[in-house]
Amino acid sequence: MKDRLMVALDVNHAKSALDLRDCVGDAVGWFKIGLRLFVAEGPPLVSAIREQHRVFLDLKFHDIPNTVAQAVESAGNLGVDMVNVHAGGGEQMLAAAAKAAASFPAMKLIAVTVLTSDPMPKEQARSVALQRATMARDAGLKGVVCSVFEAAAIKQACGSDFLTVTPGIRWGDQDVQDQKRVADPAAAIANGSDYLVVGRPILHAAKPRRAAMEALAMMESAQIRA
Ligand code: C5P
Repeated sequence: MKDRLMVALDVNHAKSALDLRDCVGDAVGWFKIGLRLFVAEGPPLVSAIREQHRVFLDLKFHDIPNTVAQAVESAGNLGVDMVNVHAGGGEQMLAAAAKAAASFPAMKLIAVTVLTSDPMPKEQARSVALQRATMARDAGLKGVVCSVFEAAAIKQACGSDFLTVTPGIRWGDQDVQDQKRVADPAAAIANGSDYLVVGRPILHAAKPRRAAMEALAMMESAQIRA
């Protein structure tokens, strides 16, 4: 299960990121490097995290097709294991991104469907996410970022091999903060999520490693029940 747990390194210094890696690294298979850390520390930090873990570069590229294709190529040259674009960029942008990613078969290219912080009603989010997931699959992408509430329907429509990566994970009495469509780690596994993205529930925990182990235990119990 630890290979399905991604911790979002939403911190602003390499030292904080590496401290967190050292603290929870044995409990998780992946680290997600997003806008804050990448803007602050860039490729050297990606290389440092890649020494021991897989890296999801979460920069949600959304630009004209040529620019996005070039950014995907740069991500491939960095050696990341997963990178994403925003499906809101449309079919041509997704196709250009997929073409660029084809030169890096070990790198999974996925698309953000609807942000888990988007306030749109759940039913509407599911329909937009499904439509964007189908578009991403048809363009040749390997999967999507979606909420737990859309994961099962996307798997059904796009095939069981089509990856679903789900942020918006909260459990117990944790604050949802800016997220809107949240679910716990067990529900994520039960709904067919391939990878769970967890940020603040681990980053801000008094004991981050214990929080990561709690998430893992819930994922494992859901798998046993399935
Ligand atoms: O702290 P929290 O667990 O809410 O962090 C979720 C992480 O997942 C953040 O890094 C956020 O940028 C990212 N993310 C998200 N919703 C998406 C795509 C990425 O929350 N649709």
